[in-house]
Amino acid sequence: MLCRICKSKGRRTKAVIYIRHHKLALCKDHFIEWFEKQTAKAIKEFKMFKKEEKILVAVSGGKDSLSLWYALHRLGYETYGFHVSLGIEGWEYSKKSLETCKKFSERIGRPLIVFNMREEFGYSIEEIAKGSGRKDICSVCGTFKRYLMNKMCKERGFNVVATGHNLDDESALLLSNTIRWEIGYLGRQHPVLPESNGFARKVKPFAFFTEKEIVSYAILNKIEYLETGCPNAKEATSVLYKRALAMLEHEMPGTKLRFYKEFLKKARPLFEKELKERLELNECQICGMPSTAPICLVCRTLERLKEEC
Ligand code: AMP
Ligand code: FES
Ligand code: ZN
Ligand code: ZN
Repeated sequence: MLCRICKSKGRRTKAVIYIRHHKLALCKDHFIEWFEKQTAKAIKEFKMFKKEEKILVAVSGGKDSLSLWYALHRLGYETYGFHVSLGIEGWEYSKKSLETCKKFSERIGRPLIVFNMREEFGYSIEEIAKGSGRKDICSVCGTFKRYLMNKMCKERGFNVVATGHNLDDESALLLSNTIRWEIGYLGRQHPVLPESNGFARKVKPFAFFTEKEIVSYAILNKIEYLETGCPNAKEATSVLYKRALAMLEHEMPGTKLRFYKEFLKKARPLFEKELKERLELNECQICGMPSTAPICLVCRTLERLKEEC
């Protein structure tokens, strides 16, 4: 297959990728160009951030977040990486994640801010999850990561934090929220969650890219990412939704993108009022972060752990 853009310019260059739902075959250079243009388009269309804003990019060491950091850096944004080192020893997961992020930050010459849970809190995420009494370690981990992203933004003067969520993640989440008619979650599902009540703006510039497109971008740019996921991530139900969507995508290319985009355009506005009716928040008496209770969930969990020891 030949690159469509090269062909239009009278050159015969072999394509390295065929994007089925766009019916687009591209060579390496034109794929990278297309990918970065699409990123810039999503940022502009959804008013994610301005050129003069500095951006905290939350990086796990995986393909999505490192590719995001790379693309934003290439697009000329002032980026800072932020990595939460969770203290997970299985498969040396946290050690390798941190090393991968550090190496990448050196490669692009941008600073990496690291929050080490064991050093700062005295516990790993696994110990925290155990002590919290909540069974689902991933959801405890998610709460802590979101809290730390907000805290870092507040302490270091960032208005915006970017995460590497992709179309596979977003469409699977949408399917799961729709099947259960989670009105509140549907109202909040958007590539931009505006800043409010002391929380930083959260943006997902890769929400319209499939995993395959991101892996291709990472490989073509020689981004060294960690291939193994977290050892605690069990066969989550989200995998089931991803599988169902992959089946539909196979038969009807473009399903995922259509499902998500049409939701944003036609359905989400109906649920959006839920967002405007957010609860009044106070400052947590311990850490000062916004919270519905006098002491926030993170501080409550940490206090409980201290009492138990
Ligand atoms: P996940 O929920 O693991 O798919 O991660 C979603 C996004 O959250 C990633 O693309 C990153 O932007 C961010 N993220 C995940 N893990 C970490 C971490 N340990 N430190 C900082 N950001 C993270
Ligand atoms: Fe948080 Fe696995 S426990 S990523
Ligand atoms: Zn080309
Ligand atoms: Zn607190």
